[in-house]
Amino acid sequence: MKKLVLLIAAGCVSMALAAEAPAIYKKCISCHGVDGKKTSFGNDAIAGMPKATLIEDLKGYRAKTLNRHGKANLMNPNAANLTDEQIEELATYISGLAK
Ligand code: HEC
Repeated sequence: MKKLVLLIAAGCVSMALAAEAPAIYKKCISCHGVDGKKTSFGNDAIAGMPKATLIEDLKGYRAKTLNRHGKANLMNPNAANLTDEQIEELATYISGLAK
């Protein structure tokens, strides 16, 4: 019985630690995957990228000044309407995803 209580307690802790995806990340899943590891559109895996790089990249796509793999036409519309706050939120979440 004691073991069960411990297991439940451990489960709660791990749930509390796992960051919840910001709602806006739903827009990214079709191309980048739930886990940020999908690369089928010619992009790199974004999971675990440094937060500062993610912010810089998303602002670059928003401003249409970044075209790292020659596929920015696919990415630009997804960044076009992001606010700085949403970019910050996304970068925090994606940088925390396991590589
Ligand atoms: C229609 C598919 C598509 C969607 C949806 C999409 N992306 Fe992308 N993303 C791409 C492609 C293609 C690239 C590579 C663009 C290039 O050539 O620079 C990319 C690049 C990136 C990169 C840089 C990674 C690299 O390859 O260097 C980041 C970070 C990123 N996307 C984040 C996001 C986020 C966050 C969202 C959701 C708001 C999103 N993307 C939605 C297709 C998509």
